[in-house]
Amino acid sequence: MTTERPVRVTIPDLRRMKSPPSAAHPQQRIVAVTAYDYTFARLLDQCGVDILLVGDSLGMVIHGADNTLAVTLDDMIYHARAVARAAQRAMVICDLPFGAFQCHPEAALTSAIRVLKESGSHAVKIEGGRIMAETVRFLVARGVPVIGHIGLTPQSVHAMGGFRMQGRDQASASRLLEDARVLDEAGASIIVLEGIPMPLAQQITQTVQAVTIGIGAGPGCDGQVLVLYDLLGLDERFQPRFVKRYMDGAHQVRQAVMAFADEVRKGTFPAPEHTVME
Ligand code: KIV
Repeated sequence: MTTERPVRVTIPDLRRMKSPPSAAHPQQRIVAVTAYDYTFARLLDQCGVDILLVGDSLGMVIHGADNTLAVTLDDMIYHARAVARAAQRAMVICDLPFGAFQCHPEAALTSAIRVLKESGSHAVKIEGGRIMAETVRFLVARGVPVIGHIGLTPQSVHAMGGFRMQGRDQASASRLLEDARVLDEAGASIIVLEGIPMPLAQQITQTVQAVTIGIGAGPGCDGQVLVLYDLLGLDERFQPRFVKRYMDGAHQVRQAVMAFADEVRKGTFPAPEHTVME
């Protein structure tokens, strides 16, 4: 591991990764993972993850809520500050939570300015398609990099009737394609495509200039994102088809803590090597 500070991933870097592969520049898919705290963010950054997304999924995976609606702007800033402190190379994107951007473009700008100033994040993400285009344009014109998010948008859980795949019929697929076009035209640098069929995600990726990052949208996107706790398998109750567990985290954490508890109860921890005698 080198001690030199790595060069930060920027939006132009990500756009170059999207451009059609050539002999000189083979396709490099973009890697994004959610992060909510300093320690994990530091590990993810050391792994060369391109984007650390401080998602409002923290309402569910950190705070244990049923959905993301109760997350506040202060919650987001608190977690994003810890992530940005750790990220030396990765670009840090912070979600604007429900209620922090929908009312008016000015309200969104006020929230985005707080996020960028107080947390050190590099961009904000907002959920919604064409209805958010004016807001995206307003923020981008004022120097705020904006990431769009369409398809299964968790902040609309009640309107969708649950966390359901979107774009499965022709009408809904056409609306999503149009949403992506409009966000692209409004200046969104990246568009997250969540919970939509693979052919639609591929079509959107080929249509827009924005970089697409998929979750539950198949392999045809410019990059992929997963919720960190899902890829680590920390909650075995949650196993949707689009998640791949790269370790059995829940089992491993329990094994480690049970070993600690066992040694404490037997009196074998702390051992002499963990103990200062004088
Ligand atoms: O909140 C979140 O973690 C997200 C990703 C799952 C895309 O928005």
